[in-house]
Amino acid sequence: MDVLTAITTRRSIKAYTDRPVSDEEVRSLLAAAVQAPNHRMTEPWRFYVMGAEARAGFGRALGHRKAKRVDEPDAAEAVVAKVEASHRELPAMLAVAVVLDENPEILSEDVAATWMGIQNLCLAAHASGLGTHVKTGAIMDDPAARAVVGIPEGERIIATVSLGEPAAMPNPKSRRDAEELTRWVD
Ligand SMILES: Cc1cc2nc3c(=O)[nH]c(=O)nc-3n(C[C@H](O)[C@H](O)[C@H](O)COP(=O)(O)O)c2cc1C
Repeated sequence: MDVLTAITTRRSIKAYTDRPVSDEEVRSLLAAAVQAPNHRMTEPWRFYVMGAEARAGFGRALGHRKAKRVDEPDAAEAVVAKVEASHRELPAMLAVAVVLDENPEILSEDVAATWMGIQNLCLAAHASGLGTHVKTGAIMDDPAARAVVGIPEGERIIATVSLGEPAAMPNPKSRRDAEELTRWVD
């Protein structure tokens, strides 16, 4: 698949088949991620490939956050169990962290570079027949989630990426034409 086709046909995939994702497949996607552009070659990205127990633990931490909005204790526990199970069942999942540089300018470049690595990974996955779903949110800084992934001091998770063979390809979401959002400046 050529790059432009990969860019235009990639979708966020929320449902996967039962086909397992091999460690070799994950390694080849990570090799694509680390080819991202990177000012000063700080190589700020860190990848945590989560096994079933880590995924379940992360799901449990996320479930507890969602359950705070549920009053009834049994219903709240059901929310936790559901989110835990859905994460355990994922074919594969990564947490992507950035090393926290003390210099804010370098940190913002490093976060940007890490996101470019994530996009490389998503496009490489799509080109090889796998789907990805990038997620962010307050769970990234949740102490229980950090602990289950094993994030050390000095790193921050910036996204999780679910990975697997797509069960279905969602329709593209409409986007404004780039021309509308562009000024050609003399
Ligand atoms: C920085 C970033 C954060 C995202 N966070 C979430 C998220 O927390 N939950 C979610 O369901 N999707 C998340 N997404 C996926 C977007 O919702 C998705 O890319 C968007 O709806 C467009 O759909 P597409 O990727 O299929 O083109 C995130 C995407 C990006 C780039």
